Amino acid sequence: MAFAQLDFDLAAGHSSGAVPTILQPSDDAFAQAAACLRAGGLLGLPTETVYGLAANAADDAAVGRIFAAKGRPSDHPLIIHVAEAAALDLWAREISDEALRLAEAFWPGPLTLILKRGPSTSRAVTGGLDTVAVRVPQHPVALAVLRAFGGGVAAPSANKFGSVSPTTAAHVADGLGEAVGLIIDGGACNVGVESTIVDVSQTDPANGVAAILRPGGVPQEALAQVLGKPMPVRVSEQVRAPGQLPSHYAPEARVRIVDARELAAEAATLAARGLKVAVLTSHVNDFWPPGVEAVFLPANPEDAARRLYAALREVDQRQCHVVLSPLPLEVGVGVAVADRLRKAAGPR
Ligand code: TXA
Ligand code: MG
Repeated sequence: MAFAQLDFDLAAGHSSGAVPTILQPSDDAFAQAAACLRAGGLLGLPTETVYGLAANAADDAAVGRIFAAKGRPSDHPLIIHVAEAAALDLWAREISDEALRLAEAFWPGPLTLILKRGPSTSRAVTGGLDTVAVRVPQHPVALAVLRAFGGGVAAPSANKFGSVSPTTAAHVADGLGEAVGLIIDGGACNVGVESTIVDVSQTDPANGVAAILRPGGVPQEALAQVLGKPMPVRVSEQVRAPGQLPSHYAPEARVRIVDARELAAEAATLAARGLKVAVLTSHVNDFWPPGVEAVFLPANPEDAARRLYAALREVDQRQCHVVLSPLPLEVGVGVAVADRLRKAAGPR
């Protein structure tokens, strides 16, 4: 099997080469990916949202390697990716009608459901919680790998804890290096921000209603439409979701949210103080003050989501000290883009 040639050092969770192997999608690549997962290795897996750092969800040692590679605290729960909604029963219990309706409407797609943990789902994946996060991704490569593997795959975004999520195979290799042995190149992610997380774990309406824990690829309006009632956003007090921590999704450069009308003046002021300043803007060809770098972020929310993380990476490549960004229109996936920008601008 070609997997043997990949030369993983599984015990260390590192490949022995300095750079990960990046394969183009093919039946052979999917078979290698499945073999990597079966052997307890870490796989860079493209999804429609962002690239995931994938491991066999039923293998606690492999799941442990995810936390080590990311530098992420082990009490932070992971999302289990499966090939179809029918697999839900293997990982979750007491699945409500609401949960099934959402799964039916949005899977495969950028929606993660929080459900009661199934009896055989390891607490290593759920960070010790009695709930579990599950999603069926839409990316054809993710689905092909999940089918070839046949089990559930735990996958956080394939970046170091707290930093910018990867939307290309090269981003994964740049951020995690040899910690990930194999990456399947699925091209640039089509959604570009993470899945929407909806908590449907409360089956007794007296204990609470379905709520959004993290805005993402599926807009709030679309969820409300399917359920025929408003979908509230709940920001948890006990911060268990890293996506709910103040500073997250952040580049090296300091991020500041600035009103679009103040952008040029604010950038000029900072540049005059000797800082290398980037602005995220759809008007890259406008006049920008000397010392200010315009980095393209489209105005349309879907396009902005697709481009956001690459734009934040570009700011760091240009070695800017600070990046100023106006908030996008908060409609549709624009809500998730604004959320990520606010988190990136959060206190460090
Ligand atoms: O789009 C996505 O969701 C990507 C791709 C790879 O699927 N994955 C992703 O994973 O964003 P990660 O680990 O970066 O973020 C998952 C979020 C975390 O904020 C985690 O705390 C939350 O899901 N989460 C997982 N299980 C949970 C649970 N049982 N209760 C509450 N939050 C949970
Ligand atoms: Mg993440």
